[in-house]
Amino acid sequence: MPDELRLVASQIAACTKCDLYKGRENTVPGEGPIDAKIMFVGEGPGQNEDEQGRPFVGAAGKLLTDLLASIGLSRSDVFITNIVKCRPPNNRAPKKAEIEACNTYLIDQIRLINPQIICALGTPAIVTLLGEEYSATKVHGKPTSKNSLTILPMYHPAAALYDGSLKEVLASDFRTLRQLLDARTKLEQPIENGRSSRGRETLEKWI
Ligand code: URA
Ligand code: SF4
Repeated sequence: MPDELRLVASQIAACTKCDLYKGRENTVPGEGPIDAKIMFVGEGPGQNEDEQGRPFVGAAGKLLTDLLASIGLSRSDVFITNIVKCRPPNNRAPKKAEIEACNTYLIDQIRLINPQIICALGTPAIVTLLGEEYSATKVHGKPTSKNSLTILPMYHPAAALYDGSLKEVLASDFRTLRQLLDARTKLEQPIENGRSSRGRETLEKWI
């Protein structure tokens, strides 16, 4: 892990800003390369993630890995994290105050990685990144662009494990992700080292 992301991870490891620290086995800061073009933001660690200190390593993680493969990507191409970095008890949804307490780490990660696309997985992540009035049902698959950052809301992979019909919806939204990525890559080709043309300042203004 690069030093800057390691620093955020070590701050998370020592964090007691909300009550979720009390029940955790491990913190789950997230993982992936600092120059990832795509970030995935889920809801919060479950039991497997809490045990291993890694995001999306259970059944939902397997589906996420398969969906990535279906568009020619692997986990090591993307940065995967959550809106809260500690496991909520019994996998309940994270509370608003917990999400707000943890937001600073997510913002730091977004600033360091400076991704082209953030996929918000499930309504809690969608609300955190886009606002209260949004939900997966209403906006999944519909990208929103803010300056140089595109946010693509999706259903949470765990939802597709309960309701099989959502698997094809997710697969289709991943195809949208592939198209967005290809369009961005095309746009940036004429510029030497496309990423450097996009300053951090723009993202700071948005976040
Ligand atoms: N579900 C999430 O939202 N995040 C994980 O890391 C694993 C399952
Ligand atoms: Fe800190 Fe976030 Fe863990 Fe709460 S969930 S203790 S804010 S790292």
